[in-house]
Amino acid sequence: MKRIIIFASGQGSNARAILDFFNKEGGAEVVRIVCNKPGAGVLELAQQAGIPTILCRKASLQEPDFIGALRSQQPDLIVLAGFLLQIPPALIAAFPNRIINIHPALLPKWGGQGMWGHHVHEAVLAAGEKLSGITIHQVDEVYDHGAPLLQACCPVLPDDDADKLAARVLRLEHFFLPRLIQFLLAQNES
Ligand code: GAR
Repeated sequence: MKRIIIFASGQGSNARAILDFFNKEGGAEVVRIVCNKPGAGVLELAQQAGIPTILCRKASLQEPDFIGALRSQQPDLIVLAGFLLQIPPALIAAFPNRIINIHPALLPKWGGQGMWGHHVHEAVLAAGEKLSGITIHQVDEVYDHGAPLLQACCPVLPDDDADKLAARVLRLEHFFLPRLIQFLLAQNES
């Protein structure tokens, strides 16, 4: 059984999509959910699903105790699913090529510090883009920068606001993120 750790800061709809997918498909389990926001929806989800959580602060991410707690879980993959803190080099070095992030737009445009959630969709709309979508990428030392693993597109429609566009993009996230995780975990075996 492959082992996944999810990092999330928000409502956790991607975390839920991952849990639902692997509950049905098998082959992998979510062993920990790491969150930096007390009261975030994802913590309630973890509680309902019986998954132990680790609350962290920005500074924790590079502390040996925190990294050791993750290591002890022997994760095959760490998935940033709506996690808004930058991952420090010590954490990246501890899990080389094993940390991926999902971003709600087509990188390299619309990324970087401050570009998260509705800020991304508002920027896409303000620029008059006809296409948006998702990028799932390896995590490196630069925010929203690592090698892309998967991109999927959706249209930006004339009467879109940030909420409507976010909902369309989230549907792509929920479909593709679990399936890419499954693919990557299978690659690890070969
Ligand atoms: C998702 O749209 C994810 O792509 C985005 O946060 C949302 C989290 O939703 N991530 C970023 O903006 C990272 N830069 P969720 O908590 O419902 O999964």
